[in-house]
Amino acid sequence: MLPVFRSVAALRQQVAAWRKDGLRIALVPTMGALHLGHLTLVQEARKQADRVVVSIFVNPTQFGPNEDFSAYPRQEAEDVAKLESIGTHGVFAPAVEEMYPPGASTTVSVRGVSEGLEGDFRPGHFDGVATIVSKLLIQAAPDIALFGEKDYQQLKVISRMAKDLDLPVVIQGVATVREADGLAMSSRNAYLSPEQRSIAPALHRVMRQCLAHLQAGAAAETCLAAGIGEILGAGFASVDYLALCDAETLRPLAGLDRPARLIVAARLGKARLIDNIEALPT
Ligand code: PAJ
Repeated sequence: MLPVFRSVAALRQQVAAWRKDGLRIALVPTMGALHLGHLTLVQEARKQADRVVVSIFVNPTQFGPNEDFSAYPRQEAEDVAKLESIGTHGVFAPAVEEMYPPGASTTVSVRGVSEGLEGDFRPGHFDGVATIVSKLLIQAAPDIALFGEKDYQQLKVISRMAKDLDLPVVIQGVATVREADGLAMSSRNAYLSPEQRSIAPALHRVMRQCLAHLQAGAAAETCLAAGIGEILGAGFASVDYLALCDAETLRPLAGLDRPARLIVAARLGKARLIDNIEALPT
């Protein structure tokens, strides 16, 4: 039976026992409602470590007041069964009070790479992410922790945070897992009606078209404006941003003159979808 730890103390006890045996430990933080994207992180973790812990915690501090914290899908029994079937060694699924006991007053805040993009549209979001991920990394003390490129800015914020806090952990990114039609897998895809689901792959399609134009030498401003028009034309309600950014600093670029990332966030029905692709100059 796959053990599910509810307390930090129980998690630490198991991790200490594994460490005593000289085992290498990986952590995969999630908010549950697991899909193939999450499971791919776990499979990658299994290749890199002897023991894999997956955390499932819908973290209230990374949701804004008008966001979907209470509606966020919760299906722990199903998640645990999926994790067991692919050989996970432990699940950490604490209650909110275990992670944020009364009186908790510390926030981890990362400047620079957390500003702009999601940082502009979700104020406080990355403080919540950096705080919970630093707690999880301190609690589980893994050798390696894996995060999806799907949330590219999040991956950069976490890498920066781990470096700045001298956390003794390797932060590894894993490529985005997509549906056959290009839509990036996401727990929030569950909010889409069948009609919206058929519109959603436009995000990825438009980014690929935009990339081809940029690689042919077009200016970012022109491609991005056209791309936003196409996303709206496909049926999205609004586009928060479509941006070409330096792959490391995430600062906006005027053209594809260095390794970059095309990054998008757009709204469709009840869902706010984000995606990104690598953009390399030819
Ligand atoms: P969640 O959205 O559940 O995602 C957990 C991890 O799975 C993240 O690293 C995310 O980037 C990755 N992931 C999601 N969809 C993916 C896909 N299609 N392909 C590859 N990886 C994918 O991100 C969070 O939770 C939270 O912010 C968390 C880091 C757990 C902190 O609360």
